[in-house]
Amino acid sequence: MENLDLSKLPKHIAIIMDGNGRWAQEKGEDRLYGHYHGVISVRKVVEAATEIGIDYLTLYAFSTENWDRPEAEVMGLMSLFVDTIAKEVPDLHKNNIKLCFIGMLDRLPEAAQKALADATAHTAQNTGLTLVIALSYSSRWEIIEAVKNIAKQVEERQLTITDINEAIFAQTLTTKGIPDPELMIRTSGEHRISNFLLYQLAYAELYFTDTRWPDFRKEDLIKAILDYQNRERRFGKTSAQIKSN
Ligand code: IPE
Ligand code: IPE
Ligand code: MG
Repeated sequence: MENLDLSKLPKHIAIIMDGNGRWAQEKGEDRLYGHYHGVISVRKVVEAATEIGIDYLTLYAFSTENWDRPEAEVMGLMSLFVDTIAKEVPDLHKNNIKLCFIGMLDRLPEAAQKALADATAHTAQNTGLTLVIALSYSSRWEIIEAVKNIAKQVEERQLTITDINEAIFAQTLTTKGIPDPELMIRTSGEHRISNFLLYQLAYAELYFTDTRWPDFRKEDLIKAILDYQNRERRFGKTSAQIKSN
């Protein structure tokens, strides 16, 4: 932790929490056992992000594609979400963490929708870490929704086509008001984005680790941030231009 350059911290870290199922199966256990252990990693990483001073943490918990998994796993995950949110909100609130959820939330069971709405309302005024949970989320869905929203505004003459720009588009996404992630971490050795924040990750540094999500801890987060701090982010410019700045 003392090796971190506090003046060069990413403001927003996004994580694809992957590998729960394999972690469990490698231990001869049911996949859900891995998801239960994944919650411990969530707690540790949220604590670490708060301690380090990260402003925004987005966690990919369930994709729209994950609805197609076996029913028992989906149901198990849904009750895990409801139980975890209910159990963790008091501590999150005490730590000044603001919770929000992005995704097709109306596809979630009623109990889950209620738990999310309560957690969001309860922590809405907090000013510390903003914890964004992507649940029933898919980036293509999000982009299509944004396009429809903009088209409607044009149709209703609240907007003209020439008004449409990156700022307007970003304000129409579910991550409205949240800066783009500078660092995206994916665990468990898969090297893909899996429909996560396709627009927002345009210039993110991507970090992949073989560590399965249930084994991911504070040290792993610090390692990823250190790796990020050793990269030169050029945004299309030359290295010489960056160095002269
Ligand atoms: C990530 O772990 C959690 C969710 C997608 C809900 P996985 O369940 O994808 O675990 P693996 O990738 O099959 O090991
Ligand atoms: C992506 O993981 C979604 C989450 C981590 C919630 P998956 O395990 O579902 O992704 P693929 O299918 O391997 O790309
Ligand atoms: Mg997976």
